[in-house]
Amino acid sequence: MPQIAKIKGCRAIGIAGGADKCRLVTGEFGFDAAIDYKHEDVKAALKQHCPDGIDVYFDNVGGEILDAALARLARGARIVICGAISQYNATAGMKGPSNYMSLLVNRASMTGMVVFDYADRYGEALREMAGWVAAGRLKAKEDVVAGGVAAFPEVLLRLFSGENTGKLVLQL
Ligand SMILES: NC(=O)c1ccc[n+]([C@@H]2O[C@H](COP(=O)([O-])OP(=O)(O)OC[C@H]3O[C@@H](n4cnc5c(N)ncnc54)[C@H](OP(=O)(O)O)[C@@H]3O)[C@@H](O)[C@H]2O)c1
Repeated sequence: MPQIAKIKGCRAIGIAGGADKCRLVTGEFGFDAAIDYKHEDVKAALKQHCPDGIDVYFDNVGGEILDAALARLARGARIVICGAISQYNATAGMKGPSNYMSLLVNRASMTGMVVFDYADRYGEALREMAGWVAAGRLKAKEDVVAGGVAAFPEVLLRLFSGENTGKLVLQL
């Protein structure tokens, strides 16, 4: 999604786990900066890379990273809740955002987004994104794993360990 933000003229900062993925984020994907959440203090890094605050935060992970982003919002910021992978396996209950008062102070909003709600625009998105891919402006990376249906449980777990680099696809 931040690759599209770059195409639309935004400054985009990525958050990823590990130096290799961060190099990919700034190198191949062309973001302005990357934060390695496994080895850096995310809150401090957001302060460094977003001195004027965050205008749009696209959230796939929830938990502590969402809280760090909340603490750094710009006035009128928008948070898109797409997923919360850090919380899916929580056995002691999900951790909700504790810095939510930042929404009030910054007149900000936090909205859930489910891709199926935009099904009538898939064709439009496909055409536009295919053009960007063909022009080399949008990099689509896939991580294809063989093994068929029997491998599904093991392959699914790669999402949680971060073993995948790119869209994880199980080949049937
Ligand atoms: N709203 C919708 O319509 C919709 C549709 C599809 C998917 N989703 C959501 O979108 C998100 C991304 O899904 P995807 O299929 O594209 O997966 P993905 O981003 O290709 O893979 C998941 C990545 O999450 C990171 N991760 C795993 N555990 C983490 C943790 N505890 N904290 C921070 N990062 C963690 C790992 O990267 P690192 O190596 O960087 O840790 C892993 O590679 C998920 O939350 C999913 O549920 C939403």
